[in-house]
Amino acid sequence: MALFKKKETKNAAFTVLPKHIGIIMDGNGRWAKKRGLPRTAGHRAGADVFEKICKECGRLGIEEVTFYAFSTENWKRPKEEVDTLMRLFRDFLLEAKERIAETGNIRIKFAGEKEGISEELLDLMAEAEKTTAHRTGTIVNLAINYGGRQEIVSAVNKLIASGKTEITEQDISENVYTMPECDLIIRPSGEERLSNFLLWQAAYSEFWYSDVLWPDFDETDLHLALHEFEKRNRRFGG
Ligand code: FPP
Repeated sequence: MALFKKKETKNAAFTVLPKHIGIIMDGNGRWAKKRGLPRTAGHRAGADVFEKICKECGRLGIEEVTFYAFSTENWKRPKEEVDTLMRLFRDFLLEAKERIAETGNIRIKFAGEKEGISEELLDLMAEAEKTTAHRTGTIVNLAINYGGRQEIVSAVNKLIASGKTEITEQDISENVYTMPECDLIIRPSGEERLSNFLLWQAAYSEFWYSDVLWPDFDETDLHLALHEFEKRNRRFGG
């Protein structure tokens, strides 16, 4: 099975591509445990895969991809693990200019609640958003300190603050962090749940699950998900 998978799709072509993909980067801890390594080593390996998959989404011409990097609940994890994740985000953003130039035409955006995130990280995020804003390729949303319910509440609060007294679906769609529809949600590691990710955007998402742990996920797994997406008959309730 593994051999078959790796033979697949290096030069894959697709008849239809999702416009917006959401990816839950799950399984880092289990990947590290299997190797007798600390969980943080799993996150480090996961960060490399994140970059690889950004690059492939860019190459394929995906419009937007949202990576679930840190949830509003992840603050409950041990301090060392939280610090490692924050450092990985920081390192990525510090090198973003060069790396992203290498990676191609990628635009970085932040999706999440700012409160609780360090000033340094917020500044780096703002800088990355600014320096990549002119790019026309894939939008990469980094969901950090992100919760789907919190995102909807935050959209509603913005609308109330703007003086709205009656709120429509369109109003909320215009005030969520990312493209309002997510076509495909990818979750590796064998878990089959949404975990408070893109609740608004996932109303008509297709879901693709795999047992592969995120640090082992590669371009071929992405292609498998995209081939499966091509076959889905999307009816949007009609
Ligand atoms: C869930 O797996 C994963 C996370 C909470 C963190 C995901 C973050 C990364 C992969 C780093 C991304 C880096 C950049 C630069 C954006 P888990 O740790 O809960 O795994 P487990 O379920 O096996 O324990």
